[in-house]
Amino acid sequence: MLFRQLFDLESSTYTYLLGDESTKEAILIDPVLEQVERDLKLLQELGLSLRFCLETHVHADHITGTAKLRKATGCLSIVPEKAQVGCADKHIKHEDILQLRSIKIKAIATPGHTDSHMAFYVNHDRVFTGDALFIRGCGRTDFQSGDAGILFDSVTQRLFTLPNETLVYPAHDYRGHTVSTIGEEKRWNPRFAGRKRNDFIELMANLNLPDPKKMMEAVPANESCGKT
Ligand SMILES: [Fe+2]
Repeated sequence: MLFRQLFDLESSTYTYLLGDESTKEAILIDPVLEQVERDLKLLQELGLSLRFCLETHVHADHITGTAKLRKATGCLSIVPEKAQVGCADKHIKHEDILQLRSIKIKAIATPGHTDSHMAFYVNHDRVFTGDALFIRGCGRTDFQSGDAGILFDSVTQRLFTLPNETLVYPAHDYRGHTVSTIGEEKRWNPRFAGRKRNDFIELMANLNLPDPKKMMEAVPANESCGKT
């Protein structure tokens, strides 16, 4: 499998490119509107045709590149079940499998950051955790129907039960990390390691974070696939 990790500096968002080397077909996970030209250029340089844009959730901090990429390439937009995105081509639900020759993606429902969040477990060796699990952190739970108790259950019961060596690729990083493992996060993630569900709920209730700068425009735009 061809694999690239791409970064948007403004929103600290990772976009992931997965490609099948024999069919030359590709998937983008969580593309960012402002980076569509970069992504199209890379696809062209690698000789890949884009089949799917896959969203881990409806983002509040950036606008998805999906609508623009779909217009440019004819790819299909796939979003989690229950996400309020009427223009998506397909909704994916827990344990659904999406396969593109050598790339096998299993959706794992991981609500809590939002109520319709999916992680994507790929080829039994890596998991794209969206905003459910960051490297030494996790997504906030104070808007978009977030729920700290539900996030705790998603992470501890669904992500931390994957094999320890599974590579963890989050949707964001704010401190310079690129990749971790499930075993490493179980041991060192300060939001979860040694914490009970109630401690975690209390911790998340007291973060006092400001709203993301783009929230008022990003959420409605993402509910229409990123049309601005
Ligand atoms: Fe998010």
